[in-house]
Amino acid sequence: MKKISSIEDYNSQYKKSVEQPEAFWADVAENFTWKKKWDSVLKWDFKNYDVKWFLNAKLNITENCIDRHLPQKANDIAFIWESNFEDKPNRTITYQQLHDEVCKLANTLKSFGVVKGDRVCIYMPMIPESVFAMLACARIGAVHSVVFAGFSASSLAGRIQDCDCKVVLTSDGAYRGDKIINLKNVVDEALEICPSVKNVLVYKHTNTTVSINSSRDKWWGDLVPNASDKCEPEVMDSEDMLFILYTSGSTGKPKGVVHTCGGYMVYTCYSFLNVFQYNPGDLYWCTADVGWITGHSYITYGPLLAGASSIIFEGVPTYPDAGRFWKIIDKYKVTHFYTAPTAIRALEALGLDFVKPYRLNSLKVLGSVGEPINEEAWQWYNTNIGKEKCPIVDTWWQTETGGILISPLAGITKTKPSYATLPLPGVQPILVDEKGNEIKGNNVEGNLCIKFPWPSIIRTTYGDHERCKQTYFATYNNLYFTGDGCKRDENGYYRITGRVDDVMNVSGHRIGTAEVESAINAHADVVESAVVGYPHDIKGQGIYAYCIVPSSKKSHEELRKEIIAEVNKIIGPIAKPDKIQIVTGLPKTRSGKIMRRILRKVAEGEINNLGDTSTLLDPAVVEEIVKGAL
Ligand code: WTA
Repeated sequence: MKKISSIEDYNSQYKKSVEQPEAFWADVAENFTWKKKWDSVLKWDFKNYDVKWFLNAKLNITENCIDRHLPQKANDIAFIWESNFEDKPNRTITYQQLHDEVCKLANTLKSFGVVKGDRVCIYMPMIPESVFAMLACARIGAVHSVVFAGFSASSLAGRIQDCDCKVVLTSDGAYRGDKIINLKNVVDEALEICPSVKNVLVYKHTNTTVSINSSRDKWWGDLVPNASDKCEPEVMDSEDMLFILYTSGSTGKPKGVVHTCGGYMVYTCYSFLNVFQYNPGDLYWCTADVGWITGHSYITYGPLLAGASSIIFEGVPTYPDAGRFWKIIDKYKVTHFYTAPTAIRALEALGLDFVKPYRLNSLKVLGSVGEPINEEAWQWYNTNIGKEKCPIVDTWWQTETGGILISPLAGITKTKPSYATLPLPGVQPILVDEKGNEIKGNNVEGNLCIKFPWPSIIRTTYGDHERCKQTYFATYNNLYFTGDGCKRDENGYYRITGRVDDVMNVSGHRIGTAEVESAINAHADVVESAVVGYPHDIKGQGIYAYCIVPSSKKSHEELRKEIIAEVNKIIGPIAKPDKIQIVTGLPKTRSGKIMRRILRKVAEGEINNLGDTSTLLDPAVVEEIVKGAL
């Protein structure tokens, strides 16, 4: 695929993508292997939401990720795996080995009776087998649903039930720094309420003792190595489901965001190559987990579609010490490094002594994803890691967008700290006011919407198309609403300011306030709670919970511990409240609605500036909350 080569080239490509979107994307799509080409490029309707790309085209994404590269690249490295433990030998996986492993696992899944369209849950650590698992599903047309291995049994069960998974792929355990997490135990607990699951395939990784239910559970090592390494790729329609990935919204349970084969393939490869400007011989490393969309699009699919070589890292940035990332970069001569602002801020706080021992001179491009990168973190990254010679691509996108929508193109777009800068070709952002009127011109601020579909846009939320329509296409007429606030500066550069709905972004993880509230309310003594985000130096946002616990005889300290344990149990440690204030009431309007605006102000420490409180039912409640603020 020919990459954009200069800002002039970007401008002309962008213009073409807006004026002739179908011709533009058809040209890009010509770079892939299709079993049958499309009859038409795009059909779309944002009102009664329905989007289809490359209609009636046939393909298999794994053929494009793997087989297509084999004639030239069979012995090139697809992945280098770096263990949690720095003294443990690494593993390299060539494209040929990737092919063989994926086919063997695909055949094993077939032996369980998995067929095209079946859902398979992947609950695994950051080991190459997780990527094999995603691709093995895609090879046979099964739909993968990867669940981040930090989620609790209850969250896992909810996700398995929502899409009726037939098989779960997991491992005995996962290493995270000096901890071992017993994944198989979590799966066992989840499956007590998941009758749809017929088989569990367990990869032995930590040698942790696990219980095996012999009719249901099989060891990976007993089956996969003996399976055939040839598996014909299933013929998929462009709009057949590729995967489901659950993500939090402002209300209710997490939604299963659905992506389909053709458009997702075209867009993840296109965006990977253009944003990162990856060249053959480079070594790319994205530190995300495959449990999130960044891992799907920019560890698994985008880089493999582009035939790239990547690092997969199992560990955490601070184990055995806070120099681990930089050590790995020097060890393998990483050229492209893509991480989250929360990691940058955490490492910055631990001091430069952990950076100084490393040369970091192989680096060419740095990336940031998942949350706004504040200017200080941007400067630290630029100076100390990029040595002021590596462009930083601040990539804005979402689970629902499938790929990066607004970002500098490395070395092409002039960067500006904390700005995601310009839309990729094919992406048409607009800012609107509360009523949905377009805010034109520059030096303005509003809610970020996109007015035209791009190939990897969400197709539906699994099992509930109405919810997809309501969440993304009902707020504003004929627009996809991102849920983010945004500024546009004098040069037309975009800066994402954060969520404008009840979704928090904690260490780059999306967490709905409603989800945390319902976990807290599961505690027997809590009658009501309200959760808001507040600025946190390292995490970006922290979680502040106000809880009403009227008749409890327990101390506040005890209650706090129990509430945290409840959240860990129901969602997982990522949603653990940072602050819990026990209150006797919540500020409500006369109609009974919680005034979150006031709770946010208190959590932010802005107690002298609470805004209009005239609609409050009981002003005394606010006084009490302010007095007890943490
Ligand atoms: C936020 C992660 C500012 C944003 C890929 C979005 C960002 C949400 C950026 C999606 C960025 C992501 N600058 N904010 N570069 N990237 N976000 O679905 O609020 O986990 O709506 O996808 O993260 O989170 P998600």
